[in-house]
Amino acid sequence: MSDDAVTITPLTDGPLEVKGLTTVTNSAGEPMEESDRTYLCRCGGSAKKPFCDGSHKKAGFTSTV
Ligand code: FES
Repeated sequence: MSDDAVTITPLTDGPLEVKGLTTVTNSAGEPMEESDRTYLCRCGGSAKKPFCDGSHKKAGFTSTV
């Protein structure tokens, strides 16, 4: 795997950790966030979807990896 590879890792009881992207864009192609590491909500409770805002902890979201 090269250093430029994008990896997506589900975190236990939390979001998807995405490493290796430089820009996340919306459906119109507009940049939403620029970072080499971002966290995407998978509990459905975030107020700033698609990004995790920590709401999964308050909601008691559980998952297995
Ligand atoms: S996974 Fe963190 S707010 Fe949904």
